[in-house]
Amino acid sequence: MHLHKYEKYWLVFGVGSLIVFLLITGIMAFHNGSHPPSAKNTINHEKVDEIAPFNNPGVHKVEGKDWDYEAVVVASAFYYDPPVLEVPVGAKVKFIATSKDVVHGFGVAGTNINMMLEPGYVSEYVTTVNKVGEYLIVCNEYCGAGHAQMHSMLKVVDPK
Ligand code: CUA
Repeated sequence: MHLHKYEKYWLVFGVGSLIVFLLITGIMAFHNGSHPPSAKNTINHEKVDEIAPFNNPGVHKVEGKDWDYEAVVVASAFYYDPPVLEVPVGAKVKFIATSKDVVHGFGVAGTNINMMLEPGYVSEYVTTVNKVGEYLIVCNEYCGAGHAQMHSMLKVVDPK
């Protein structure tokens, strides 16, 4: 079988990109531990305010865990509770969030933090915040009339 030179290049390029994409997905999943949100962690979305940790939203220092702080966020149309999260620079933070009503987003501009918040499910993301600054948290799932106004703020501060 005769293949044209350029056709060979394209075949190599196609198969090569497939391998690269599979490698990236594999490294993300097994090395960086990023998985699609699972149905493992469920919650009664009508009683979010009564269920820990969502009965006490905000940033809390924790001991004896793989992370230093837990940032607990409750989303509902069209705001986040609390409206501002403040964490010290260099801290390993676990973001724990859920929605009380419809699907909302939790995207922190300029970072890798990006979760979908579904009613009935708890979304979690662990990361280290290593740059001082104020980061806008935006809802990136269309959730209704107030969607564009739904935002909050992550402040990464230098404690010194
Ligand atoms: Cu909440 Cu869009």
